[in-house]
Amino acid sequence: MSEELKNPLPRHVAVIMDGNGRWAKERRLPRLAGHNAGAQAVQRTLEAAQRTGIKYLTLYAFSTENWVRPQDEIDGLLKLLEQTLDRYTKEAAKHGVRLLVSGEKDRLPPAIVEKIEHAVASTAANTGLTLNLALNYGARQEIVHAANALIQEGKTHITMQDIQAHLYQPSLPDPELIIRTSGEERLSNFLLWQAAYSEFYFTPVLWPDFDGAEFEKALATYRTRVRRFGGL
Ligand code: FPP
Repeated sequence: MSEELKNPLPRHVAVIMDGNGRWAKERRLPRLAGHNAGAQAVQRTLEAAQRTGIKYLTLYAFSTENWVRPQDEIDGLLKLLEQTLDRYTKEAAKHGVRLLVSGEKDRLPPAIVEKIEHAVASTAANTGLTLNLALNYGARQEIVHAANALIQEGKTHITMQDIQAHLYQPSLPDPELIIRTSGEERLSNFLLWQAAYSEFYFTPVLWPDFDGAEFEKALATYRTRVRRFGGL
């Protein structure tokens, strides 16, 4: 009975892509080789999400805490993101992908901010999968950002709907499923507000080894979960 399907497919899946560094270390490669392999796993996951009919995919690409990494790793990661933005902007039309970005643009290099704005604007009318890249993203910062926006509006009393309306991407539904790879089992300042009722799927697979089959395994597990939302 435990395998009985309790849920339809999630609409929104969010992923903490972890383990690039360990994948590289196991192969005695530089950490950036792990991130490059991770970018290929992003491509496979995106294809799997499209194939399975997921509407929204949020990927944790760079956290507000990642700035403490060595500068060459930060530069390499940003370069990879820039290349990915270029590719998706070109390919998005073909696949109907809409690109969104969650996070603060302030610390990002201007060239990347420009590419983000171009990618978001040029894919805005696409009606296929929405790919939301969490970039220079922190969930506590997101909630503070919402609170400050409400102060700016002169609010003296706020509701949950007010906070929701001022998140970075207010139109996205909460993720029904959050996947984290590499055996770590924590949220690391990711979607704290939105994860209130999310189901979690943890896998020991390192992110560069993640593929469509692993994605489908996570979906299948999610579908067997009993979701009560505080009820019986
Ligand atoms: C975690 O691995 C991964 C990151 C900090 C960045 C995620 C980036 C990618 C998957 C590369 C490309 C992304 C896009 C969207 C093109 P880690 O370095 O923390 O691994 P470790 O815990 O094993 O050291």
